[in-house]
Amino acid sequence: MRPDPDLDLVERVEGRTRLLVPAASLGGGPPPKSPAFFNPLAAVTRDFAVLFYGARYRGSSARLLDALCGVGARGIRVANESGADILVHLNDANPTAAGIARRNCDLNGLGDRCAVSSEDANALMYGSLRSGPRFDAIDVDPFGSPVPFVDAAVSTVRPGGIVALTATDLSALTGRSRSSGRRKYFLSLHPTDFSREVAARALAAYGVIRAAAAERGARPVFAHVDSQYLRVYLEIRGHARAADESLDRLGHLGYCPTCLYRGVMDPGRGHRCPVCGGELLELGPLWLGELFDEQQLKGMLAMSDGMGWAARSKLLGRALADAGLPPYYYALDRIADSLGTCVPRLDRLLESLASKGYRAVRSWAHELGVKTDAPHQLFVEEVRRLSSCRGAASPAPPRRARCSGACSPSASPRGPPRTISSPSPGSRPARRPGTP
Ligand SMILES: C[S@@+](CC[C@H](N)C(=O)[O-])C[C@H]1O[C@@H](n2cnc3c(N)ncnc32)[C@H](O)[C@@H]1O
Ligand SMILES: [Zn+2]
Repeated sequence: MRPDPDLDLVERVEGRTRLLVPAASLGGGPPPKSPAFFNPLAAVTRDFAVLFYGARYRGSSARLLDALCGVGARGIRVANESGADILVHLNDANPTAAGIARRNCDLNGLGDRCAVSSEDANALMYGSLRSGPRFDAIDVDPFGSPVPFVDAAVSTVRPGGIVALTATDLSALTGRSRSSGRRKYFLSLHPTDFSREVAARALAAYGVIRAAAAERGARPVFAHVDSQYLRVYLEIRGHARAADESLDRLGHLGYCPTCLYRGVMDPGRGHRCPVCGGELLELGPLWLGELFDEQQLKGMLAMSDGMGWAARSKLLGRALADAGLPPYYYALDRIADSLGTCVPRLDRLLESLASKGYRAVRSWAHELGVKTDAPHQLFVEEVRRLSSCRGAASPAPPRRARCSGACSPSASPRGPPRTISSPSPGSRPARRPGTP
């Protein structure tokens, strides 16, 4: 690392790209916004951006707007590492950040492939309608919520283009802060054990709704999420019928806090839980269609394998296996807590569900998440049966029982454990895949 006497910049290599970044951003705490923002922990999200745009535009050319670029890390890495013919426009309202982005382009020999500006992102996007040509892809990576930039992005990107949205206000998108979710995204949410997928589907739904207001269709083609970052990549189509089709894919999930049943809300059934008869909480509006485009994922996976990015490949493989499964998962640690038992071995649980004729895979969103089309009661009973803890009984004791040794270690529980109640005598037994 070489010090910079003026701004206290240091050089760092991320992926295969050299970056000058403020030394203070590498101190381990929250990165400062001044003189320019850079978060080393967001490197994962930038790896996925390299893979996404590389797979999307390999063999063609494209113009990408990195509308809130900071020191340019995302856009410059895409230009440098994606292997696609992508011209990148880097923009940041902070002129110091834009100046560092300019230096970073030159540092990587990309002077002729990058343009740099320092404007308000919305002014730049709406201005592109006058000054043209339109951007093929617009990447929106703000502090907190992308809401202030979504309208401009979805309405100005070229039809057929991509809008990528980052959100770090996950409390609003997961139901942890219900009032904030309502204010910013007009969402009605509650905390659940599958909140990471809820967040991705909620942000996708917001993009669909705002695109529809501009008479455009939108569908997610890729998403990833961790405890701090959520990114959803939307493909935008440019006519009113596409908008109607996209809106048709929105809906609500129902969640029962008593027995932890989850499923797509059926308006004909009202708010009664089909398993225990308790009251269902409604979550939405959410995108209920596929979150991933198969071709896109396969292209990203091939690139990721080629780069030797094993952890990214693992997640992409899980996303590929997600196709056709319900729009939620079960977080095994939370389910086990509720049963007063410990987490069964994941491979055994998946095998057992498969042997009974159901699909069951690991979630792309949560390390202990299971996605399955098995009925809720059958799934819960399998968790109970395959846990070798002593003391797992129904109704469950409130705390997790001691593990006798054959169980997976569970992550620490988030929030108080709930106890799953036994179904009421009148509830229907589970029968077919896809039924609750
Ligand atoms: C989270 S940082 C971007 C990080 C960057 N994309 C990266 O990967 O390193 C958000 C950036 O948005 C910039 N910003 C905030 N409001 C803006 C606006 N209205 N227009 C353009 N840039 C803005 C900030 O200066 C900051 O650099
Ligand atoms: Zn219930």
